[in-house]
Amino acid sequence: MAESGTNGINGTNGHATPSPAAAAYPATDSPIGNIASLHNKVALITGGSSGLGRAIAQAYAAAGAYIVSADLQEQPPRAPVVEAALNSDVKSGASVPATDLDFSTPTVELVNRRWPARAEDASANASGGVKGEREKRAVFVKADVTNEDSVENMVKTAVETYGRLDIMVNCAGISAESQHRSSTGSLARIHETPVSILDASLAVNVRGVWLGTKHAVRQFLAQDPSPTSTSRGWIINLASILASTGLTGASSYCASKGAVLNLTRATALEYAADKIHINAIQPGFTDTHFLETLYATAPGGREGAGKHLNVLHPWGRTGRAEDIARVAVFLAGEGVSWVTGSSIVVDGGYLAQ
Ligand SMILES: NC(=O)c1ccc[n+]([C@@H]2O[C@H](COP(=O)([O-])OP(=O)(O)OC[C@H]3O[C@@H](n4cnc5c(N)ncnc54)[C@H](O)[C@@H]3O)[C@@H](O)[C@H]2O)c1
Repeated sequence: MAESGTNGINGTNGHATPSPAAAAYPATDSPIGNIASLHNKVALITGGSSGLGRAIAQAYAAAGAYIVSADLQEQPPRAPVVEAALNSDVKSGASVPATDLDFSTPTVELVNRRWPARAEDASANASGGVKGEREKRAVFVKADVTNEDSVENMVKTAVETYGRLDIMVNCAGISAESQHRSSTGSLARIHETPVSILDASLAVNVRGVWLGTKHAVRQFLAQDPSPTSTSRGWIINLASILASTGLTGASSYCASKGAVLNLTRATALEYAADKIHINAIQPGFTDTHFLETLYATAPGGREGAGKHLNVLHPWGRTGRAEDIARVAVFLAGEGVSWVTGSSIVVDGGYLAQ
């Protein structure tokens, strides 16, 4: 059936009929709504200064959301090896978004420059009785996700700035093992790993997600439900492929990400009746600051490590932050109307093997 000029099945005989209003897809009467729109939602993203959190902030802003970026520091952490590698990928013809090549502009500045707030959002909110200003698309709040007062404060900042909270992305995470080596210089197995590595991994990767979930849910339950959705809130936790499979030299990281996945399931059950979606993403190895130490210390440098990692991912390459951000948009939108306690693996096929 020809598609051109149609706006869905709207004739009485079931045939598609042309509609002059069909300016863009999805059609306004689409049964799937607009699953890429986060218009006017308020999102709090931990780890927003770098990597996946930074890409998610940009993707959410492009989808119409207002952003609170929470991190230990506003400046993106330096990642010269990853930065050089991405630039060299571009020279050899790879497609990398320009914003992913910028490792120095703070996320909030980047977002506000590219996706400024819209005056009509502010006036629509004012007439709908929604509190909070929409003067800036994004704001930064300094936060340490391991500290409960700090987590409470970042939620408070979202509410004071934008009047409510709709989406919580628990993205801040660390790879504590990458900072430690065995006596022979290789990745350390558990018998050569100090317990401080475990404590650090659990503090950020598990306690941080637990606290983020706790305080986001408190806010979801305290505020009026969104006027435009039957769902009451969306939480997205960054787990990893290493929640479902092991990796030598990463015992505490694997343990922490396994915990994130089951924390996602347990909390999803607790709040399903409240219509709060709690889901996870399991990225494969993705080129961000997170891989800086791995690349910088690998025997063959990024090139050697990159070749090794490319083979491990059947798609033939490591991930781009944007690959993960796209799925994070889906998990915060109308497409997940009946999805909770689940995880989406975004790994170029790594776990399918
Ligand atoms: N990049 C990957 O290969 C990969 C793969 C699977 C999962 N992940 C997960 O994705 C998440 C994001 O990783 P990324 O690649 O963006 O890493 P990244 O290092 O680029 O960014 C992490 C950010 O978290 C922040 N952070 C660390 N500790 C914090 C704390 N206590 N409080 C607040 N912020 C803190 C850092 O300052 C940094 O800005 C992590 O949870 C990570 O485990 C990453």
